[in-house]
Amino acid sequence: MNLLIMGLPGAGKGTQAAKIVEAFQIAHISTGDMFRAAMANETEMGLLAKSYISKGELVPDEVTNGIVKERLAQDDIKGTGFLLDGYPRTIEQAHALDATLAELGLKLEGVINIKVDPSSLLERLSGRIIHKKTGETFHKVFNPPAGDYNEDDYYQREDDKPETVKRRLDVNIAQGEPIIEHYRAQGLVHDIEGNQAIDAVFADIEKVLTNLK
Ligand code: AP5
Ligand code: MG
Repeated sequence: MNLLIMGLPGAGKGTQAAKIVEAFQIAHISTGDMFRAAMANETEMGLLAKSYISKGELVPDEVTNGIVKERLAQDDIKGTGFLLDGYPRTIEQAHALDATLAELGLKLEGVINIKVDPSSLLERLSGRIIHKKTGETFHKVFNPPAGDYNEDDYYQREDDKPETVKRRLDVNIAQGEPIIEHYRAQGLVHDIEGNQAIDAVFADIEKVLTNLK
């Protein structure tokens, strides 16, 4: 299956993507994760990305379109399919993706749109913790790691500071709607209620994807 997962920062894209790729065995392509890996390795692209991400701004389209195209062109994608998480995030990126998919002979089959009340997102992002070793995402209150965990084994994302989160939300709210409309016009969008527990959100997504298969 070739899919997109969309939603505001903190909507649960990464959390649900981890479950989807495990259940359906498809490749997870998260532009945010790719940028964070490049930032950790201090590559030229990572340093450039950092200058935008730390302020809550979007990385320029030409950079982002380039890394997605490179990843989609790799051999595994035709066999496994893909789940794009956090891309496209501007209407220009959506048009670039259309062109890339046509060029590679790939077809988009569905768009999972996680809808959440923006007022809950600051709380979700400020409580997010990520396991240093595995990269797995948790939440201090809503999804704590099992048992007595050691806080030193986890880190918080630099862009989860309240001032940066506010800018990320503003940027994403402004850019998001035309993208959803672009895919709605093609009959691809499946709206998912995101204001429910993690497993309940996944149960709704699983129903949609089982019907698509
Ligand atoms: P990216 O990493 O994609 O960040 P984002 O879109 O801001 O989304 P998040 O990863 O913060 O949220 P999520 O929806 O994945 O939520 P999660 O599952 O973790 O991008 C980061 C930056 O990179 C961007 O700001 C931009 O600068 C740049 N970038 C990336 N892609 C780009 C692009 N295409 N173009 C240009 N720039 C780009 O959940 C959040 C928390 O809530 C967790 O703690 C989780 O445990 C908890 N949670 C999840 N679901 C629930 C639930 N149902 N109930 C309660 N808690 C929940
Ligand atoms: Mg994410």
